[in-house]
Amino acid sequence: MDTNIYHSLAKLNTLGVDVNCDQLIHASDRKQIVEACLNAKCNEVPLLVLGGGSNIVLTTHFEGTVVVVGSKGIKVTEDANAYSLVVEAGESWHDFVVFCLVNKMPGLENLALIPGSVGAAPIQNIGAYGAEFAQYCEWVEYLDLETGDYQRLSKSECLFGYRDSIFKQVLKHRAVILSVGLRLDKQWNPNLSYGPLKGFDCESVTPQAVFDCICATRQQKLPDPKVLGNVGSFFKNPIVSKSHFEMLQQQYPDIVGYVVDDDEVKLAAGWLIEQAGLKGSSVGGASVHSLQALVLVNRNQATGDDVCQLARHIIATIQTHFMVVLEVEPRIIGASGQKEIDDA
Ligand code: EPU
Repeated sequence: MDTNIYHSLAKLNTLGVDVNCDQLIHASDRKQIVEACLNAKCNEVPLLVLGGGSNIVLTTHFEGTVVVVGSKGIKVTEDANAYSLVVEAGESWHDFVVFCLVNKMPGLENLALIPGSVGAAPIQNIGAYGAEFAQYCEWVEYLDLETGDYQRLSKSECLFGYRDSIFKQVLKHRAVILSVGLRLDKQWNPNLSYGPLKGFDCESVTPQAVFDCICATRQQKLPDPKVLGNVGSFFKNPIVSKSHFEMLQQQYPDIVGYVVDDDEVKLAAGWLIEQAGLKGSSVGGASVHSLQALVLVNRNQATGDDVCQLARHIIATIQTHFMVVLEVEPRIIGASGQKEIDDA
């Protein structure tokens, strides 16, 4: 276990916010993760568990222990119909997608290039281009910080929803994800429902072609966090009633909406933000990305406060224009733990 004396978190969050913490522990296996987390818990020290740091906004010095989950390992077994994979939480999600592709276990291509770790994937049920983590998940194993026990939840017990799971709800401050179990059918069914994939012929398309197309699409639209700090989509796409959508459609005939069910429509938050004239607007070093308005970027040494102030301005403007309340997607972290955007 490596206990760092400099405690800088600048390289451990993809937004690239430069703050420190009291104690920083790089835990490279499951035993070290469990020991570090339970120690902090026993000593009543604020605890922040980090995977790839791709879904957090650090607003200030963290007055506690940060544990970076670095456990590695992928185990594969198979039956007649599918591959079963057990993956340790510290594996990089994208590297895992590549591992599956290279080893002829396709299925995850649509989720290529999503930043972050495997252990973080279930928390917000990562999703892109018509696919989401839940579709492939069999179970999630976690450390229960209240009891010190290991627990395993089946997919249905994880209560996955759109960018949501039990780990963002009742288990929010209680679970440290240690490993996940996934199942990939041997019969590959390409998911070509999303725009840029529609041109492929489902009979002749290959997993590699889908993977390449997804990578190219993401690289075109979404800034690379290594070049321009960001946390992906900053807001969830809001779900409104059908009547609300129809009312907006009268005023804005081009509004982008996807039918959820008979009563609800999901709006494209990026479209709303662009329409409200917010593309390119900034606070301090934080800006709305010029190519994808749903992404806030660290243009020039932004602080977490710059980012939060910009986000609050966007929320207020969208509420005024469209009577829609945007919900923040990343976790906002204060001195001793997670906060709401209004308190940040
Ligand atoms: N749009 C605009 N202006 C913008 C951005 C988008 O008009 O500045 C319009 C687009 O033209 C399109 C619609 O909004 O008609 C949707 O845009 P896009 O396809 O880029 O996807 P999104 O809804 O903005 C979601 C996910 C992304 C995921 C993409 C692709 C959420 C919050 N975001 O974005 O996930 O990659 O779909 O499936 O659901 C993430 O969660 O961090 C993330 C990047």
